[in-house]
Amino acid sequence: MAAGDIPNSTAQTLQAARESLDEGLFPLEFFHDEGLHDLEMERIFAQSWVFIGHESEIPEPGDYAQRYIGDDTFIFVRDESGEINLLFDSCRHRGTEVCRAEQGNTSHFRCPYHGWTYKNNGEAAGIPQKSKAFKDLDREEYGLAHVPRLETYEGLVFASLAEEGPSLDEWLGDFKWYFDVHMKLPEGGMEVIGEPHRWVVDANWKTIADNFNGDSYHTAWAHGSVVDLELGGEETVGHAGTGESLDRHIHCDGHTTSMRGFEGEDVFLTYPDEIVEDLFTKDDLSEGQWELAKQALSFTGAIFPNFGFLHFGDTTDDPEKDVAPFFTIRKWRPIGPDQMELWSWGLAPKNAPEAFKQRMYKMYTSNFGPTGNFEQDDVPIWKSITEAADGQFAQSQNLQLNYQMGLEWMSEMDIDDEWLGPGFAYTENLEEGGMRLFHEQWYEMLAGNDRTDATGSPINVTEDR
Ligand code: FES
Ligand SMILES: [Fe+2]
Repeated sequence: MAAGDIPNSTAQTLQAARESLDEGLFPLEFFHDEGLHDLEMERIFAQSWVFIGHESEIPEPGDYAQRYIGDDTFIFVRDESGEINLLFDSCRHRGTEVCRAEQGNTSHFRCPYHGWTYKNNGEAAGIPQKSKAFKDLDREEYGLAHVPRLETYEGLVFASLAEEGPSLDEWLGDFKWYFDVHMKLPEGGMEVIGEPHRWVVDANWKTIADNFNGDSYHTAWAHGSVVDLELGGEETVGHAGTGESLDRHIHCDGHTTSMRGFEGEDVFLTYPDEIVEDLFTKDDLSEGQWELAKQALSFTGAIFPNFGFLHFGDTTDDPEKDVAPFFTIRKWRPIGPDQMELWSWGLAPKNAPEAFKQRMYKMYTSNFGPTGNFEQDDVPIWKSITEAADGQFAQSQNLQLNYQMGLEWMSEMDIDDEWLGPGFAYTENLEEGGMRLFHEQWYEMLAGNDRTDATGSPINVTEDR
């Protein structure tokens, strides 16, 4: 469907909802709508930069893993020359999937139907009986299709199904300043540990997008048991908006991050002293980035549309053990209006001792893996929102959810005038502007508009909301 092809009734519903978002309202029914799901696939997921994986997952030539953008399956593969490719997993003869395992190492992919064979850079290498059956066929025209655009930022590989549009660098914009802190703080950078976890959640993907775009309000309630069980500190999991610490909600070029920290203190996300002393380096960071890392206790954040991260200190997997940090990145892949597949990776400093990497991995799994303490709290909540949105009542009553926290007539909010980084930062975290920002971009893309304005600037960069 091209822009302008949305049925009039849908266009009017979206327009009305866009206007009500300025009042901090969003329709409940949008969390379960078959028609919107199809539009989201076409206009958001086929047009955005979508996270695929980390280079360290396929370190050797021939290493591959199946990955997805929306409903499409791709092969994420390092070829014999060391280049990373993202190949559409569909034989050029009759469409069969040629990659028959979720991951592995191979020089070639052979189609199980009639045996067409492709090199791991996608080139067609072998066609059975070619000299008789396909004598004029040009192999060069029949390689596996490459994704139109594939780019890497700090080892994180993103792809876009759109032939044209903003580069990954433009898409991330100045938000890279914040993500650099996570990826460049240790000398040698971060690497992924093990395979990603994946699990299906019976919830609409926008529920988790909301959550990762600054829901500091929920932590004390939904995750109160983490404090009760002495698995996390009040400073990390406790009430939002205490105003005593460096609690900030930051919006930057359409992406968001929330942090908790302590002004003027050396916290470094509770990494052990030996890691801070031996591995952390200012070399690739600005003074402001270094200061941010130093004072931070935890970060949560999201890159539009479906990438999230958590870099936490001050939690443990066992009350008898010291607290330790974990770093996890995730993506949420919609597989229907009421289901998503969560993909989740644990990371650690590449040059850290093996035992510390394993501790970080254990911390990640016990907190935010599929059975993690925090994860189990959130998932039933997201599911219940999706269930409430299903059926007739939400639509017939036009029920509107409230996202008004932080709007000037609703809350007392200040912007930090001396903030260290780009974008802007609220001086406390009792606000829902990050979620409104997410939904604004969602509307713009569904309406067929760019995330950029007429001047080419990313939307919402400077506007205080
Ligand atoms: S479908 Fe792949 S070889 Fe025929
Ligand atoms: Fe949560």
